[in-house]
This record gives sequence, structure tokens and C-alpha cells, in this order.
Amino acid sequence: MDLTAYRERFPILAETTYLISHSLGPMPLEAERRLAQYAHTWNTRGIRAWGEGWWAMPTTVGDQVGRIIGAPPGSTVMHQNVTIAEAVILSCFTFDGERRRVVYEEENFPSVRYLQQAQRARGAEIVVCPDEEAIVEAIDERTLLVPISHVIFKTGRIQDVEPIIERAHEVGAYVVLDAYQAVGTVPLDVTALGVDFAVGGSVKWLCGGPGAAWLYVRPDLAARLEPTLVGWQAHAEPFAFEPELEYAGGSARFLTGTPNVPALYAATAGYDIIEEIGVERIRENSVRQTAQFIELLDEAGFDVVSPREPERRGGSVVVRVPDFEVVYAELEARQILLDFRPDVGLRFGPHFFTTDEELEGAAAALVEISSRGAKLPAPAGPG
Ligand SMILES: Cc1ncc(COP(=O)(O)O)c(C=O)c1O
Repeated sequence: MDLTAYRERFPILAETTYLISHSLGPMPLEAERRLAQYAHTWNTRGIRAWGEGWWAMPTTVGDQVGRIIGAPPGSTVMHQNVTIAEAVILSCFTFDGERRRVVYEEENFPSVRYLQQAQRARGAEIVVCPDEEAIVEAIDERTLLVPISHVIFKTGRIQDVEPIIERAHEVGAYVVLDAYQAVGTVPLDVTALGVDFAVGGSVKWLCGGPGAAWLYVRPDLAARLEPTLVGWQAHAEPFAFEPELEYAGGSARFLTGTPNVPALYAATAGYDIIEEIGVERIRENSVRQTAQFIELLDEAGFDVVSPREPERRGGSVVVRVPDFEVVYAELEARQILLDFRPDVGLRFGPHFFTTDEELEGAAAALVEISSRGAKLPAPAGPG
């Protein structure tokens, strides 16, 4: 099936040029149907719904994400957001021995950074590095955790994570890979990478909406780690209501309490489409389109911030333009949806449904608005 044939499954594409899947992917029409199905199930099956699939959703839906990220069945579970997933990982460790360093990159997503920084209160020593080479150098026997991003959220740069994982494993440290900005547009195989933990969500390239993040734990680690941020879904026999904690086997022990059922219904509508197309095919199209788009921006003399080498470029193209807030507002007024990050510029995120004509139109609009000066006032809120 031609990729543009998928457009009809996303109603908002009829109204807008949707170039913002690095922030919020568009809603598949099927998500609305599944949310109605959730409500119908609640209404008609009531309490029986838990036994008929709801309770198991963090692991059944996790297995679907697992197929997209190269994780074996039973190694991926669903949480509400990445921050919670990373907090569960942190709760497996103490920071009171020789090995209590957290080495991370300054380009990690802020929420993740804040969480790591807060571990200072538990004894963690935080080492912040400017790039992946510096991370490799900073990792030593004092390093416990290395939380890194697969694709940097601001610039769309794909990191060279393999040397980091290799170095971390050499000294016995664990790598936490935040793959939020990759999954759904850049192929990822957590098993081949040998990464210890991986996290991500559904809001962006997976077109799954908010409230459904995932956590992968390497199976041999899952068998022996004991998270202290834990709840009854992590118990070996949750419905025995035992007074004492007994960890479930495998990745279920990384769960907490009652799952976010409606978000999981909605999210699978996006995952189904991503699985149906296949990330390799999405990536091929994305590399081709982003290269063409960069060519147009180059011709117009813009300052492209995202990497030019295709193997280092994620799904977005970031471009610095003067008065970018105002340019952004005028593009939005023309139904061209994108966003900006203050210190880097405008972020354009085409996805598998984007047509070449849409990208050409966006580039032409950018040239036109910039050359005659943007007219609208800057928006008050963030992009
Ligand atoms: C790389 C990355 N990690 C994490 C997040 C979000 O984290 P959370 O799910 O905790 O809101 C984002 C964006 O929202 C992101 O780009």
C-alpha cells in the first residue's frame, strides 16, 4: 500500500499540514473507536473487564511495543509516562556505596534530568556531559547508571550509543536508553544493542496519544532486580492480597498499581499502523524526505541545525530562522503545524503520511514569510 494511502486514517490530515509528530503524533481514527470500545466494555462488562483483558494490558500492550523495539515477549511493560518508568528503574538501586555516579548528557529530556538530579538526596553523584564522547570518557568504576537519549529531542540527532553501552558494560554500569524520539521513525533493536533498560512513550512517532509509556528491562536483569517503587501489579499473586511483597517473575515486577486502561486502548491504534507499515519502511521514506527538505532549506540559505548525515539524522529537521516565534505563528495560521525550541529554532517533523508536496509547500511558505518579514505577533505559550 502506498504510504499516502494511510492519510485517510488520520482525520486531522485533511485540515492541516501535520509536521509535528516529534511532539504529538496525529490521532488515528481507530483510536476514537477504541476509546468508545473501552467505554462500552466498562459499561457492559463492568468488573468482569479486569479479568477479560484490562488487568493484563500493561504486559499485553507492552509486548506489542516489544515487537516494535526488538524486545522479547514479557520484557516490556506499560507505564503512564517516561518519568515514572525511569523512577521505577532508579528505585532498583541505592546510591550509598563507591558506585553511586549517574553519568548523563546535558541534552537529555528535562523531565528525565530533573528526576536524576533529585537522586542527589539519596546520595547520587551527578556527572553531566556535553556529548556522547564525553560520556564514554566519564564512565568508570564509580558509575552506576548512564541515562542517555537515542535521538536528541532538540536537534533530532541520532546518538552513537553503542560505544556508551560498551564502555558502561566494561565497568559494570547500567545504561538507560530514552528512545522516545526514535521509536516509530528510527529502527531500534534493544536486544541487538544489549542495552539494560529502555524507555519511551506513545505521544510522538507512535501516534498513540498520552498516558502510555513503556519500559523495557533486559530479561536477565529483570529476573534479579528488585524495584522499591512497586505496587500490587508487581506482586506474584496480586489477587491473593498477600500481606508481604513477593515479586512477580520477569518484567511484571516493574509495574505499580492500577493501569491506565483507556490510554492503552487508544495507544494500540497507533502501534497497529506502525507495525503494519514497519519502521524500516518509515525510516527509508523519512530519510528521503528530510534530505529533500534540507536541500530546499539550503537553497533558500537557511541555517539547518539537524545533522546532514542521514545516519545521524532522526525524524525531524531543525532550522534556525530569525524571529522564529513569529514565523512559527504565521505558519500555524496557515495550518502548517510544527513547533520550536527557543535555543535551536523551528522543528519540522514529517512522518510516513506526509506528502512531498506538503514539504515543498512548507519550505515555500517559510521562504516567503521570512523574506518579507513575519506579520503576526509571537504566541504566548510554548511551541
Ligand atoms: C526524549 C524524551 N523523553 C521523555 C519525554 C517525555 O517524558 P514524560 O513521558 O515523562 O512526559 C519527551 C517528550 O515529551 C522526550 O522527547
